[in-house]
Amino acid sequence: MDYDIKDINLADKGRLRIEWAEQNMPVLRLIRERIRKEKPLKGVRLSACLHVTTETACLVQTLKDGGADVVLCASNPLSTQDDVAASLVRHTEIPVFAIKGEDNDTYYKHIYAALDLNPNITMDDGADLVSILHSKRRHLLPNVIGGTEETTTGVIRLKSMADRGVLRYPIIAVNDAMTKHLFDNRYGTGQSTVDGIMRATNRLIAGTVFVVAGYGWCGRGIAMRAKGFGADVVITEINPLKALEAVMDGFRVMPMLNAAKIGDFFVTVTGDINVIREEHFKVMKDGAIICNSGHFNVEIDIPSLKKLSKKRRIIREFVEEYTLKDGRCINLLGEGRLINLASAEGHPSSVMDMSFANQVLSAEYIVKKGGELEKNVYPVPEDIDREIARLKLDAMGIKVDRLTKEQRKYLASWEMGT
Ligand code: ADE
Repeated sequence: MDYDIKDINLADKGRLRIEWAEQNMPVLRLIRERIRKEKPLKGVRLSACLHVTTETACLVQTLKDGGADVVLCASNPLSTQDDVAASLVRHTEIPVFAIKGEDNDTYYKHIYAALDLNPNITMDDGADLVSILHSKRRHLLPNVIGGTEETTTGVIRLKSMADRGVLRYPIIAVNDAMTKHLFDNRYGTGQSTVDGIMRATNRLIAGTVFVVAGYGWCGRGIAMRAKGFGADVVITEINPLKALEAVMDGFRVMPMLNAAKIGDFFVTVTGDINVIREEHFKVMKDGAIICNSGHFNVEIDIPSLKKLSKKRRIIREFVEEYTLKDGRCINLLGEGRLINLASAEGHPSSVMDMSFANQVLSAEYIVKKGGELEKNVYPVPEDIDREIARLKLDAMGIKVDRLTKEQRKYLASWEMGT
């Protein structure tokens, strides 16, 4: 079996960590038990481009148990957990192409290696796999019946491909399922981003000004958690509705140029380019800490930070201190890549449980219904979303009420008013 990982001897450590994650993924476990027997993915070749974490290990093992032939590559050069990659290769014989800290060339070489499987299904996080397949490996397109996409940035890219008529097969937008973004994006990113900042810096958050750029589901989660740690949270936004929501949630909202002057910590989660740039670096306080938790490392304009600097050094792991020509220092965390996966371990397994349950059930749906779908981006079917919520509540031991007959009748009627 061909693979490219850091060190196969890390496998046993990885296995224990995967087991730890699995204990907290009851919904995925239930699905795994069922598909291990039913084998709905039998004969399917599936190329996955995902963050190589303990939770992803549970996902790809489930897909394999369901009958799929799976290969895994990293969806970000800094997010791979090398012990997990080793365990997948040694203990489950799933080929993995991922090394934490790989350079850009290796990152793409690994994507090509995953595509060498000649997939019928793609499972992507950020749409790099789909993008390479549509540009550099077009001859493989006729064999693909469908794909899934994990994240907001990927869904935006794929919708743009569909709008321009270049998307060649249907994609299920897993990100847009309620049981994905309401929990993973909000509580997962909220906790893991603050965790990443704390692990990288070991700084106290209480009493600081903590600037969050972007008030989507991820931004809301980060703001909520930073507030919980005692920070004075400032939000920057371009969307008036989200800005208004942030104000009513109790946060200060202002343009980045104003926030830049007062912030101690900055986190970007907008999905857009150069959100923190030269004009902002020029007014930041000495010692400001900047990082990103959006999918790509484009939200902070690192080339212009380099241009403004006379010196830079790695002052501790995941912290690069830039000394500007006027003597001020700005600290960039995790090379501007997803800080929650660079210096921490990504979202906790309990939320990935629902995200990855959506992935497996969407892959199963593609096998059943892929032939009927157009070359477009589709939502996760509502019944899958509801079923995952139901299973999660069950696993948490939480019961909910059911509508009475009278209530069902009332909701179906239009005649009854005051
Ligand atoms: N994205 C964010 N957190 C993750 C995790 N723990 N595993 C896989 N993908 C993720």
